[in-house]
Parts: sequence; C-alpha cells; structure tokens
Amino acid sequence: MDKFDSPDLSSPQFKANPYPFYARLRSEAPVLRTRAVFGLSAWLVTRYEDVLNVLKESHFANNWSPKMPIGIRYAKPLTRHMLNSDPPDHTRLRTLVQKAFTPRMVERLRERIHCVCDGLLNAAEPHGRMDLVRDYALPIPLTVIGELLGIPPEERLRFHAWSRTSVSASSRLDMLRAFPDLWLFFRHLRKLVAERRAHPRDDLITALIEAEEAGDKLNDDELLAMITLLLIAGYETTVNLIGSGTLALLQNPSERARFEQSPALADSAIEELLRFTSPLDIARIRLVKTEMQVGSRTLRRGELVLAAIGSANHDEAQFANPEALDIAREPNRHLALGQGAHFCLGAPLARLEGRIAITTLLQRFPGLRLAAPVESLVWRKSVALRGLEKLPVHL
Ligand code: HEM
Repeated sequence: MDKFDSPDLSSPQFKANPYPFYARLRSEAPVLRTRAVFGLSAWLVTRYEDVLNVLKESHFANNWSPKMPIGIRYAKPLTRHMLNSDPPDHTRLRTLVQKAFTPRMVERLRERIHCVCDGLLNAAEPHGRMDLVRDYALPIPLTVIGELLGIPPEERLRFHAWSRTSVSASSRLDMLRAFPDLWLFFRHLRKLVAERRAHPRDDLITALIEAEEAGDKLNDDELLAMITLLLIAGYETTVNLIGSGTLALLQNPSERARFEQSPALADSAIEELLRFTSPLDIARIRLVKTEMQVGSRTLRRGELVLAAIGSANHDEAQFANPEALDIAREPNRHLALGQGAHFCLGAPLARLEGRIAITTLLQRFPGLRLAAPVESLVWRKSVALRGLEKLPVHL
C-alpha cells in the first residue's frame, strides 16, 4: 500500500510547482499507483532512468485503446494518430508525415516566424503591457502550424477554443463536457478536408490528402487524427515553452542578463528552458506489453504507465543542481522532447520558434517585467501539459 495520496496531477495548484512532490516520489516512491487519468489506475514513474525506459522500451505500447473508457472511444478519430500507435502503424504514419516535415521546410519558416513575432510586438507596444500568453506565446505557434496545415486565420482561434476543452479533460465527466466542442471541431475539420479535396492548395492538409489518394495510405480517421495531432502538438506545447520560458528568465535575472549578452548561448538556453519548464510534463499514457520490473515494482501486462518527464528533467541523479536555471548547462540530456520512436516530430520547429520568440522579445523590450505577483499566476488544468493561463507583463 502506498503511503502517498494519489495527487490530482491535472490541477492548476499541482502544475504551479510539481517539483517538491516529484522529488519526494523519486526518493520514497519512484513508481506510484495513481488514479490520474479518466479515473483509471496507472503507475506514475518519476526517476530519470525509469522515465527514459518507459519512453524508449518496446515493453510498453502507445496504443492503449483496449483500456480507453467508452467516453473517449466516441472520439475515435482523435485517437488514431501516431502518438497512439505502435509499429508497423506508427512507422507508416510517421514516415508519411515526416516527408512533409523536413528540416528544409522548417528552415524556410525562419523569416515568417520573425515576421509574426515582430507583428505581435508592434501591436502590443502602444499599450505598454500585454498578456504574454494570449498576445504572443499562443499566436506564434498557432499561426505557424495553422499556415503550414492550411487552416484559415479566422478558423484558428475557433479550433483553439474547441481543442482547449479536450486538452484539459482529465475525468470522464470532463470528456462528456468536452463532447459538444469536439463534435464542432470534427465537423469543421471534415469540411476543411472536403474543401481541400475539391480545391487542392500548397499546404500540408492537401499533401496529406494526396499522399492518401496516391498510395491509399491514410484512411479517413487517420487523416483527421493526423491533422488534429499536428495542430494540437504543434502549438499547445510551444506556447508553454515561450510562456513559462520567459517567466523563468524573468525570475532569474542573472541568467536573463547572460542570455541577452551572449547570443552564442541561445541554443543551449532553449535546451535549458525546455528542461527547466518541461512544457509536456507527463508523456502519453503507455500500456505494459509484457510483465516487467521497474525499481521494486512489478508492472503487469495490461497495466497503464505515466512517465513524468518534468520529474525526470529535475532528477538530481541526472542533473547537477536541477532546480537552478543554467542556460549554459552541459551536458543537458533532458527528455522534454521525448525519446525513442516517438521523439517529437516537431522538435526543430519547436526549437526555432522558442528561440526566435524569446530572443526577439528580450531584444525589443529590455525593460520587460512582470505586471502581477508570481503567486497570483494561474496554471492550466491538464494532466499532460504544464503552462500558464496568463502572464501579464509590462513592456
Ligand atoms: C516546446 C514544444 C514541444 C514540446 C515540449 C514537445 C514535446 C513532445 C514530446 C515529449 C513528445 C513525445 C511524447 C511521448 O512519447 O509520449 C512529442 C511528440 C510529438 N510532437 Fe512534439 N513537442 C513540441 C512541439 C511540437 C511541434 C511544434 C510539433 C509540430 C507538429 C510537434 C509534433 C509532435 C508529434 C507529431 C509527436 C508524435 C510523434 C510520434 O508519435 O512519433 N511537437 N512532442
């Protein structure tokens, strides 16, 4: 019997600072039984080595549909994506989209990202303050992934409003409440796909449709799931890197000064901000395929596992002084972008967006400071994500 109460891993209070709790778990209960997601029992794994194994090991499957509650199964198209699949399906889906996501394609976006950042800062400047999440951190990745996919500007914020509800759902009741939004989301997505079938354009949705028609590779559910995954993964994490990353620099003035004075540190600074803020705090749920030992626990076939990436990234056994922000940290083998077959497909894009967004912001507004006490900041409700609701700043 565990002496720890299973915490509500999705609560804003927990997400505000999960690190003291994670540190206790790593030392006293590194594999903890919890009822974290949709009321299902799952093992919460918190040590770096164990998290790495769960992410990499073939003993764990990503397709956990046999365990999905009925409430989620109605949203089937949402679940048939590569992050929920295992080989050979995963390999097939990932190969297909990777073609459209080459580093060359990402590099072509550099100028556009600069332009989006400048435009948002121009709009905010006359007000002397802004909500950094709503007015900057969110629209940057949403615009970029929206344009890449070919989602019209007026639709993007509507998609965001709909996806928000499902991203924050952690119980069956939450899922039920999310149903109307999900329904609208899919209705719109289906319309968009039908439009692109009729009038192809130079965008990723068209590319995915054509790949489907040429090689019979993506069925209808897979196509919708792929678009949904790319859209949601494309901005729901990056918004948090820019938002929480900026907050971390504002709270660590000496590291901020180093960042501003040493452009050569920009790449390692982004890696450190990824580690320190861990925008994806808890990885996709995994299913145990074959009985195995993790630490002192035996995980049985069919059980569910949650890998706490945020905890691994603050593990003192892996990182010297993990609670300190050190933008020149070396080595820095963080797991913020995952590991193994499901390693983040959008990693080059996430790094580029984070780097341009934070560098441009600090260069343009050297006097940037918080416009609210840190204790008053509210974090988003979500099991997987860790990010701020709002970040009021003076420019
Ligand atoms: C700071 C931003 C980002 C972070 C922290 C992040 C983090 C992650 C992590 C940890 C995983 C693996 C999850 C797991 O194994 O359970 C992942 C997978 C994925 N990410 Fe990202 N991501 C970011 C940005 C992006 C962007 C911009 C895209 C663009 C499309 C993207 C697309 C994906 C996709 C498609 C997968 C699934 C890959 C697969 O299953 O093979 N991500 N991401």
